[in-house]
Amino acid sequence: MRAVDIIRKKRDAGELSPEEIQYLIRGATNDSVPDYQLAAWLMAVLWRGTTRLELATLTEAMLHSGEVLDLSDIPGAKVDKHSTGGVGDKTSLVIAPVAAAGGLHVPMISGRGLGHSGGTLDKLESIPGFNVNLSLADFRRVLKQCGCALIGQTPEIAPADKKLYSLRDVTATVESPYLICASIMSKKLAEGIDALVLDVKTGDGAFMKREQDAIHLAELMVETGQRMGKKSVALITDMDQPLGRKVGNALEVEECLDVLAGGGPEDLRELCLDLSAWMFVLGGRCKLVAEGRKLAAEIIANGSARDKFREIIRLQGGDAGVVDDPSRLPRARNKAVAVAMKEGYIAAIRCEQVGVASMLLGGGREKKEDTIDPAVGIVLEKKVGDRVQAGSVLCTIHFNSDARKGEALAMLSNSFVIGDAAPRARPLVRKIIGGAGSA
Ligand code: URA
Repeated sequence: MRAVDIIRKKRDAGELSPEEIQYLIRGATNDSVPDYQLAAWLMAVLWRGTTRLELATLTEAMLHSGEVLDLSDIPGAKVDKHSTGGVGDKTSLVIAPVAAAGGLHVPMISGRGLGHSGGTLDKLESIPGFNVNLSLADFRRVLKQCGCALIGQTPEIAPADKKLYSLRDVTATVESPYLICASIMSKKLAEGIDALVLDVKTGDGAFMKREQDAIHLAELMVETGQRMGKKSVALITDMDQPLGRKVGNALEVEECLDVLAGGGPEDLRELCLDLSAWMFVLGGRCKLVAEGRKLAAEIIANGSARDKFREIIRLQGGDAGVVDDPSRLPRARNKAVAVAMKEGYIAAIRCEQVGVASMLLGGGREKKEDTIDPAVGIVLEKKVGDRVQAGSVLCTIHFNSDARKGEALAMLSNSFVIGDAAPRARPLVRKIIGGAGSA
């Protein structure tokens, strides 16, 4: 078999055989196929797409390029949630303890933020001492002990994805829904889960800006998961404005602690209840989403989700005292505000720009190698639909360095679009894919 023949076949819209796909993925894993040929094949896939069989073979080959966790010695349902990412998207820190306190096991392997979007690992690392770099053996131990463990990608999990993703990043081939599906699902299925809830974001701050693209990706991922024997459901959710009011790592942890304490902003709380409810449904704890929501709300109200979060933090080496005293989280030295130039209603918030502004303050990475400042970020004082007067504070920035403060503030002022009338409210959950019978 020769890589050049496989590339030509895909270039000419042919369907690759399972052996051809396995050959390329083996080559990506052991470096026997050079990067230039892998890159050419990725570009051919971007243009030509894949059949459902090709996608299943690709996902399976990437999944088996490394270790696939066997968690069968841990009793009960293993259920995870994955989000395609956005701005202020912090639900994992709420729903992981809620689901674990409700009797599920949550083996969560997460990513870091890049560009305008944040990452769960960076948020967790803003908790002093929290270790996201557990070995797989420790990951299993913590999971067994408290029902949840939250770590980063390890070299053993889907190494083919690591290679292919780094090539996609520099060859303008990230956007293919087929490659995104195989990338996400190969890593998630390697966690040894029984079921997966997908939160596929759509809107200005999302990877998939157009709803139809988000739906297409969600359908591919749900079908791929189900084909591999895992219960899967996807919620298409709004990312046309940041989720909640806080953007930035420690600030987002603080907001999650508010939700775990029974408060927090309504949109964040609602989405956390929905996602937890679907985890309970797929994990067999209840039949209907309404029952799952009730269970999640009870677990928050009776304090067991907070207890669980303390336990997770302690077992992963962090300062569990932050749960009761968020002032132990890193705090920025300075604050400044962006104000409205005229009166009216917030008609839209350019969500991606808010994420970029947080990155400029040091809360995110421009390049993978950049270090981040966990304390900085943005607190939105106004959200879409709110009434403002000229001079009303739109948002407050928390910053440590003046270097790009001006740029960030200008970007934020420009992110709030002020109109004459409040826009029509749009649902937070736009559509559910794959949840027939339980919604
Ligand atoms: N996240 C991933 O893990 N992979 C992709 O391809 C895109 C987003």
